[in-house]
Amino acid sequence: MGNSVIIDTDPGQDDAVALLLALGSTLDVLAVTVGAGNVPLDLTVKNALKVCDLANRSDLPVYAGAGGPLEGDLVTAEHVHGPSGLDGYDLPPPSRLASKGYAPDKIVELIMNRPVGEVTLCTLGPLTNVALALRLEPKIAKRLSKVVMMGGGFFEGGNTTPAAEFNIYVDPVAAAEVFSSGIDLVMMPLDVTHQVLSNPDRVRAFKEIGNLAGEVVAGWIGFFDRYDMEKYGTEGAPLHDPCVIAYLLEPGLFSGRFCNVEIETESPLTRGMTVVDWWGVSGRTPNAHVMRHVDAEGFFSLLVRTVGML
Ligand code: RIB
Ligand code: CA
Repeated sequence: MGNSVIIDTDPGQDDAVALLLALGSTLDVLAVTVGAGNVPLDLTVKNALKVCDLANRSDLPVYAGAGGPLEGDLVTAEHVHGPSGLDGYDLPPPSRLASKGYAPDKIVELIMNRPVGEVTLCTLGPLTNVALALRLEPKIAKRLSKVVMMGGGFFEGGNTTPAAEFNIYVDPVAAAEVFSSGIDLVMMPLDVTHQVLSNPDRVRAFKEIGNLAGEVVAGWIGFFDRYDMEKYGTEGAPLHDPCVIAYLLEPGLFSGRFCNVEIETESPLTRGMTVVDWWGVSGRTPNAHVMRHVDAEGFFSLLVRTVGML
């Protein structure tokens, strides 16, 4: 697998931690592409630029993409992430504007201009930009090394409706197109991300790193925690999106199964559900490596170690 990655994101505090994990690691991040999700596109773009500044990477291209789902209206999550989408630590305004270019076009260009298998696409939000890129150039499906995506849920149910997780719920049509594209997919559903819960000791570990990035991450998690702690009665919130980057850095932290996954796009009751055939009863062809277990301690020590490199 090539070491080059494109990160598609809708920051969001957990997206921002995932970006810092990638930028503090040895991964060759080619670009950040941004979509609407946690908050509207103008804010997710601003947040992505702020995180690049925090990581001293204001050289990294940040491309704006789709402002909403392929079909229907945008659903956002300010109640989780705050009105800015990055509440919890007050970062300075971005040092620059977004880079010239539309994210789906840039995803195609970056992949087609590199050898087969060189680029991995990491998705941390709704899959709209990826579906649009596939519509522009279906060949990217087989040229990519893989897509590692945070989204969906099965045994854990949904977090936005009883059946649907937010990233898929926002754009189930895009998700259905990505899951049927033939792309080599690694899926990080809520079944895994709900095992990596922050807690006061883990927040303290970021604070104790002693650098600005650690301070900021502690502030973001401290804010992001409150909603899920209330909802799930846990002592911390799941750090969803960093699981995607952690998988690239230490795949051995995770385990799962190659299954068929279909996306419900019609039913009003279950729209956005990821129907994971974990027991192989459907006879449908497997199309995703669905992760179900993670070494949470190993995950958080990777996170603290790498944020400490920034
Ligand atoms: O359901 C969790 C996902 O939705 C995460 O990616 C979070 O950032 C939000 O986008
Ligand atoms: Ca996200």
